[in-house]
Amino acid sequence: MIDFGTRYLGLDLKNPIVASASPLCDSLDKIRSLEDHGIAAVVLPSLFEEQLSLESESVDADLSRGTETFAESLNYFPDLMNYNLGPDGYLELIRKAKASVSIPVIASLNGVTRGGWVRYAHEMEQAGADAIELNIYSLVTDPSRNAAQVEQGYCDLVRSVKENLRIPVAVKISHFFSAVANFAIQLDSSGADALVLFNRFYQPDLDIEQLEIVPSLTLSQSAELLLRLHWVAIVFGHIRADMAVTGGVHSAKDVLKSVMAGARVAMMTSALLQNGIEHLDVVRAGIVQWMEEHEYESINQMCGSMSQRNVPDPAAYERANYMRVLSSYTLRPQPLR
Ligand SMILES: Cc1cc2nc3c(=O)[nH]c(=O)nc-3n(C[C@H](O)[C@H](O)[C@H](O)COP(=O)(O)O)c2cc1C
Repeated sequence: MIDFGTRYLGLDLKNPIVASASPLCDSLDKIRSLEDHGIAAVVLPSLFEEQLSLESESVDADLSRGTETFAESLNYFPDLMNYNLGPDGYLELIRKAKASVSIPVIASLNGVTRGGWVRYAHEMEQAGADAIELNIYSLVTDPSRNAAQVEQGYCDLVRSVKENLRIPVAVKISHFFSAVANFAIQLDSSGADALVLFNRFYQPDLDIEQLEIVPSLTLSQSAELLLRLHWVAIVFGHIRADMAVTGGVHSAKDVLKSVMAGARVAMMTSALLQNGIEHLDVVRAGIVQWMEEHEYESINQMCGSMSQRNVPDPAAYERANYMRVLSSYTLRPQPLR
């Protein structure tokens, strides 16, 4: 009997597949359907700092200095109201979901500064959230701010959120850090219970006819998984916090690779948006089949088995890989003209 269970954020999950934050988890019906198709936990779409700060009119202007995206994003505030349920509706969704599904419900907060909104995490906890995912999505465009200041700001934020909570806190970050492994250790020391690697950055496109900057969102592909696998495999064993992979998990093999690299869970959004929630059945069946064929007994047994510290050739994750990849490319003969 194969044991598909895993432990993430101190929660016992029946398998390693989690629905990451997106509108797929913004209603009770969808959450129920995800549970029916075997999802192990859901992350609700993010509630944004701007929504909470504007509502309470208590923006901590001092701390938001240097994160000029905050002021700019206020222009987009009306759009946000269409994105999620607003602060009250959000708490209501947590309560309803907790009353009607048995899988863990993780709430998500998106912010970059230490404002009063951080206290809202406590309300999420009171509403019954099993954990909070802090989705830190900040674009540092101020050239006077250096990397150390940015990283310190993130760690301070994690500490502030943790101070207010008893439930575990996951931190979702992008890969745009010059020393990812060191930063992972800093977040771990600041109290993060899990790291979610990596947020996708959505760059706006240029409309050269209308001379406008337009938002652009494309769904992911499996190829994006490699970046996540690489860093999870490197960080595995260096931190106490769990790791989750988000970005490019589309198939059973993608889930298995994420676990073998060192993640406790693999999160999915794009694949479910593209193929429907039923796609989870295909992914779960694929995991069962693969594990049976390869005689694995448990997900735990696999976790980190292909991390840098557990592979026979750790250099494969380092600079040697770069040289090997470049030299492995074979040029096709070009036809003579
Ligand atoms: C339509 C849409 C909405 C999303 N909303 C959120 C969000 O509110 N908070 C968040 O942390 N991530 C959000 N994400 C990012 C996903 O949670 C996920 O990290 C990302 O899509 C990469 O995973 P994937 O390759 O499985 O799609 C969203 C993604 C999509 C496509």
